Amino acid sequence: MMVCEYKPGLEGIPAAQSSISYVDGQKGILEYRGIRIEELAEKSTFLETAYLLIWGELPSNEELKAFEHEVRYHRRIKYRIRDMMKCFPESGHPMDALQASAAALGLFYSLRDLHNPAYIRDSVVRLIATIPTMVAAFQLMRKGNDPIRPRDDLDYSANFLYMLDEKEPDPLMARIFDICLILQVEHTMNASTFSARVTASTLTDPYAVVASAVGTLGGPLHGGANEEVIQMLEKIGSVENVRPYIEHCLQTKSKIMGFGHRVYKVKDPRAIILQGLAEQLFDKFGYDKFYDIAQEMERVVEEKLGSKGIYPNIDFYSGLVYRKMGIPTDLFTPIFAIARVAGWLAHWKEQLAENRIFRPTQVYNGRHEVTYTPIDQR
Ligand code: CMC
Repeated sequence: MMVCEYKPGLEGIPAAQSSISYVDGQKGILEYRGIRIEELAEKSTFLETAYLLIWGELPSNEELKAFEHEVRYHRRIKYRIRDMMKCFPESGHPMDALQASAAALGLFYSLRDLHNPAYIRDSVVRLIATIPTMVAAFQLMRKGNDPIRPRDDLDYSANFLYMLDEKEPDPLMARIFDICLILQVEHTMNASTFSARVTASTLTDPYAVVASAVGTLGGPLHGGANEEVIQMLEKIGSVENVRPYIEHCLQTKSKIMGFGHRVYKVKDPRAIILQGLAEQLFDKFGYDKFYDIAQEMERVVEEKLGSKGIYPNIDFYSGLVYRKMGIPTDLFTPIFAIARVAGWLAHWKEQLAENRIFRPTQVYNGRHEVTYTPIDQR
């Protein structure tokens, strides 16, 4: 058997063949099924982009209408899931609540029929439709309120924002939120997608696939970074404090949140679009002083770390956009999950089409021939 070099973090090791998305990290290019992200952000909607990723082609008008209709009418969650969520501690993180709820959904749909396109479609629709309802329900229940029923007359993103506080959102806000979902929906073989594919490769159900990916997304080095960016900006507090903060991070070798990427060595193209969206929100709804701090951070980090290819990633500006929409900081990562579930499902479907269970190897660096020491002699 060929012996391969061990690469921590599997850097540069292909884990799958995929035609879902493509990144050129040197040029700052991201494509979904060959279409540039900038074009989709300008012209598409989240549900249309989700369809593109999962079924491989842009939908016709009728196909899109049918998909939107199905998602719209599957938004309600079962009362048993709601009752289960009511028992979650209000101090718990919404990502943990989401992971548990997504897994619990599988209890209701335990009949697995992975070779049946109708089963695949139903599962895709159900997960894309109910994940936002579960996120909004936990948000209200942890404040002691009843969840708000989805509104069938509102589009996907407007309905989610409505379910958070029973107010119909401003149309610009709803459109910008929808674009954010387009930007967060898919990104090649990142940690949570890898997790989804490994779980999918065991031929378990799609609820387990999504639940395992949600758990992976939550970590601060992955989707959880967007929350930490806002906490960092709060801690820095003023433009004058930026340089000393960054110098301190460099001296103590701690990571500056929202910067750096395994693949991008230039500014993440999604960060460029998000920065523009943040500016649109500031123009209409008022300035945020955190934006001055963020821009100064970008300047100082480029000066200090630009030569290493460390630039803002998607999480640097997404937090500022969500903050301006009045969304609580600990919902930023669950919102990332609302988007990314469609990407995970595209990978689930692709994995099933040519499945082989993931079973990598390891480089053993432990001991051999050790004798057992009885407990009273240890
Ligand atoms: N701040 C300071 N230094 C950094 C940073 C950063 N944010 N990111 C990378 N570096 C340095 C790192 O110290 C190392 O330097 P040296 O070679 O001198 O030891 C070098 O760059 C390579 O870093 P690495 O940690 O080995 O790179 P990685 O590819 O394993 O990690 C990363 C990528 C995203 C985990 C990392 O850049 C990081 O921790 N960033 C901060 C957290 C963050 O913003 N995460 C969101 C990632 S993007 C969206 C997502 O995946 O969800």
